[in-house]
Amino acid sequence: PRLLLLNGPNLNLLGTREPGIYGSETLADIEALARRTAQAEGLELRAVQSNSEGALVDAVQAAREDCAGVVVNAGAYTHTSVALRDALAAVALPFVEVHVSNVHAREEFRHHSYLAPLASAVIVGAGVQGYAFAVQRLATLLTAGRD
Ligand code: DQA
Repeated sequence: PRLLLLNGPNLNLLGTREPGIYGSETLADIEALARRTAQAEGLELRAVQSNSEGALVDAVQAAREDCAGVVVNAGAYTHTSVALRDALAAVALPFVEVHVSNVHAREEFRHHSYLAPLASAVIVGAGVQGYAFAVQRLATLLTAGRD
């Protein structure tokens, strides 16, 4: 089985972007961590990052063909994108939503997520490690059933 790791806008800048909020690790570090974690669980992983909402929708639609679950940090589109929510609903794959920062400790506009009501789990404020937790959670759901 394969997971899709989907990162949205500005996450390509991790490492240099507001390091006080997001830390010093890069997107490449995150993708390597997620892939290592997936492999330890016997899963493959496809990593996609885009700054474009439509490209993220396309990646979710494509995942229907060959992925069993999705780890998604949609960045700011979390708070704005009905289209991405609809794509995740359409493919009906289990997904875990991740945010590096604790969005609930930040501005009000980051408190609402269009994706969260559909998510299997939401992990916020655990830093880059949240991606590893998300992969592990999907591995549990996929191999041991939905407990
Ligand atoms: C983020 C939180 C979002 O509010 C923000 O727009 C991001 C990153 C996070 O990982 O903490 O781009 O998703």
